[in-house]
Amino acid sequence: MPGFCTAIIGATGAVGAELIRIIQEREFPVSDLRLFASERSQGKLLEFRGGKHAARALSASELKGVEVVFISAGGAVSKEYAPVLAQQGALVVDNSSAFRGDQSVPLVIPEINGHEVVGRRGIVANPNCSTIQLVLAVEPVHRIWGLERLVVATYQSVSGTGGRAMQELRAQSMAYLEGRPLEKSVYPVEIGFNLFPHIGEFGEDGLHVEERKIVQETRRFLRDESLSVTVTAVRVPVFRSHSEAVVVTTRKKTSAREVADALRSLPGICLMEGPDAHSYATPAFAEGRDEVFVGRVRDTHPEGHGISMWVVADNLRKGAALNAVQIAEHAMGLV
Ligand SMILES: NC(=O)c1ccc[n+]([C@@H]2O[C@H](COP(=O)([O-])OP(=O)(O)OC[C@H]3O[C@@H](n4cnc5c(N)ncnc54)[C@H](OP(=O)(O)O)[C@@H]3O)[C@@H](O)[C@H]2O)c1
Repeated sequence: MPGFCTAIIGATGAVGAELIRIIQEREFPVSDLRLFASERSQGKLLEFRGGKHAARALSASELKGVEVVFISAGGAVSKEYAPVLAQQGALVVDNSSAFRGDQSVPLVIPEINGHEVVGRRGIVANPNCSTIQLVLAVEPVHRIWGLERLVVATYQSVSGTGGRAMQELRAQSMAYLEGRPLEKSVYPVEIGFNLFPHIGEFGEDGLHVEERKIVQETRRFLRDESLSVTVTAVRVPVFRSHSEAVVVTTRKKTSAREVADALRSLPGICLMEGPDAHSYATPAFAEGRDEVFVGRVRDTHPEGHGISMWVVADNLRKGAALNAVQIAEHAMGLV
């Protein structure tokens, strides 16, 4: 089949599985697919377009000739392989945080700045999952009315950590219901029937890693390094999809109605409107869907400078794999 020689590094992981699915669904043109994981998974069979493909142990020699590479195997693998692959002339869409702070590497949400990577080869960074859905919802507000302040609390599912964390939630939930002790290996605190505001190490500023990523990446997208961004990022016992309670203060006066009008027809966003349950999405509702669901848009400032909203998206799709494939579609001139 005509197309690009394509590789997925981290193909057996939570994001990798979704990358395989989305490449098929969107008919991304692949002439040859090479799937890589760690040595642990060498030989594991993965399905693609009705055929079985064995996962290969990662090595530079096996990557010769690839034209499009998706890396989702952690920052250390990205740092080692992305520059080599870029040197080779490949498009490298990186899901880790390794290059997101590098101003020479585009950080891309295609609905917002996909034009920056048309025809591009080399490394392109996929943003943090929580940042993608947040920025898709608030960037139009910033563009039209100007943001003075952004406050967000996230409710992040365990699939954001990966496959092992999903197993931990399942095992701890069973143990809890059966009255057995909860064993933990992935998280510092029990996640079964619990939650905690702790995603990565805490820094001296009191922020943990995830909160700092959201602050820095959001400021980069909104092109305002001094924007006041306050984040509390929380891990919750949900398998898939992240939710966010977002409050913005705008420079120019606006209203919930005007913001809803601005968001209603934007690509990538599904505005939830209506009474009661029709005005918001849940993680279960968003699972497997491509859109970022924005709901409960409401006024929170008496003089029209404050808007609140509830934003939900599937972290493995728009928060990771879908955004990565959309980047490749732009770079390879497919849209
Ligand atoms: N999950 C999300 O929502 C999300 C969103 C945005 C970005 N990301 C980023 O995407 C990456 C993967 O996340 P994930 O959730 O898919 O994690 P995961 O489920 O733990 O999967 C990790 C994948 O990387 C492979 N891997 C690990 N070490 C490797 C090595 N030394 N060489 C080759 N392959 C190696 C694993 O192979 P084995 O199966 O052999 O161990 C597996 O395929 C991370 O950088 C993460 O920060 C994740």
